[in-house]
Amino acid sequence: MTHMHITTWVVALILFFIAMSMDKSSRGFKILHMIVRVFYVLIILTGFALIGSAFDVYWLKAIVGIIVIGMMEMILVRAKKGKSTGALWIVFIIAFLVVLYMGLALPQGFQPFG
Ligand code: HEM
Repeated sequence: MTHMHITTWVVALILFFIAMSMDKSSRGFKILHMIVRVFYVLIILTGFALIGSAFDVYWLKAIVGIIVIGMMEMILVRAKKGKSTGALWIVFIIAFLVVLYMGLALPQGFQPFG
């Protein structure tokens, strides 16, 4: 399940960056945005599957993970409207680094931090 979870957020991030590089008024952007939204759901579902019954240790990672997803969505929507996204990018990068560290430090899956 950790591999599923990693796959879902890696794919979501790749599609997110492809979408950001596209013409925001194009049909392709609209379709890709919808696919990215499906991946939000998959990230959350696989995340919750990893939580199992030990919610006490994991709730903070879940919240930060959902913030990352929230930022991705807000960046896509504001970029489409031609509005500024600078502050959102900062929150996105910080929350992403925090969730990456937390995911890797928590006991399941890879343990690069011992
Ligand atoms: C884009 C957002 C997210 C990123 C980048 C992310 C990243 C990661 C990473 C790197 C791991 C470690 C995998 C491993 O060690 O093999 C992980 C594990 C995990 N993630 Fe996420 N995650 C995200 C969203 C979420 C959400 C929304 C939830 C909860 C609903 C969640 C719950 C978990 C849980 C419970 C684990 C297992 C922790 C453990 O015991 O090792 N994640 N995630």
